[in-house]
Amino acid sequence: MNTDDSPRWHPVAPSADLRPGANIVAGFAEGQELALWRSADGAAQAWENRCPHRSVRFTLGHVIEDRLACAYHGWQYAAGNGQCVSIPAHPAMQAPRNVCAKVFGAVDAGGMLWVNLAAQDASAAMPSLVEAVPAGWHFCRTLTLRVGAQDVRNALARNGLTADAAKGAFQGELDGVKTAALVLDAQPQLTFIHLWTEAPPGSDAMKTLHTAARDLRSAIETQG
Ligand code: FES
Repeated sequence: MNTDDSPRWHPVAPSADLRPGANIVAGFAEGQELALWRSADGAAQAWENRCPHRSVRFTLGHVIEDRLACAYHGWQYAAGNGQCVSIPAHPAMQAPRNVCAKVFGAVDAGGMLWVNLAAQDASAAMPSLVEAVPAGWHFCRTLTLRVGAQDVRNALARNGLTADAAKGAFQGELDGVKTAALVLDAQPQLTFIHLWTEAPPGSDAMKTLHTAARDLRSAIETQG
C-alpha cells in the first residue's frame, strides 16, 4: 500500500530490458504482479499479469507489434488501453468491448521504467524521475532482498547513501564508487535495489561496485 513516505512511481525494470515489439518481462510493485512490454513504436506497457479471459499469465504470451497475445487461447489485447481486439478462434466475431487487460501508468525516465499503480496513463509522470539517475550513468545490477522496503531504505542510509525524495533515489558511494540506488517495493518481504554508477561497463570501478553490491546485500539481510 502507498504511504505518505513511499513513492507512487515504482522503478520496475531498466528501460533497456524491454525491446520494442519483442519480449515480455515479469515485474512486481507493491505486491502487484506485472507484465511489462513495449509496442512496436516503443511505448512502454505495464499490465496486470493476468489475462481477463481465463487468468493465464500474460508473461507466457508474446508481442505482435502493438498487441499482446495470450498464450492459452490466443486472444489479443491492444497496447495503450488493453482492449481485447482479436479472438483468433472466431475471426468473424467482434471482440467483446468489456474484455480489457488491467493497465497501469508506465513511463521511461532516467534509464528506468517506472510504473504507477494508481494511473492508467503516464500523464501524471513526475518530472523529477528523469533525474533519478544522472545522465550518462550506467546500469550495474539489481539486488534481490527478502526484506521489507522500509528496512532496505533504512539500511541504505546506514551504509552511506543519502535519500533524495524529490528524485526518488539514494545517492552516495559504495566502496568509493559513485552510486545511485533505486528501491522497488515489490512485495511485503521482497525488495529490489537497482544500482547505477558513473563508471562504464567493464571498468575496474564497475567491478568494484558489483562486489560492493554483494557486500551491501549481505549487510542488509544481516541487519534486517
Ligand atoms: S486465458 Fe488468455 S485467451 Fe484464454
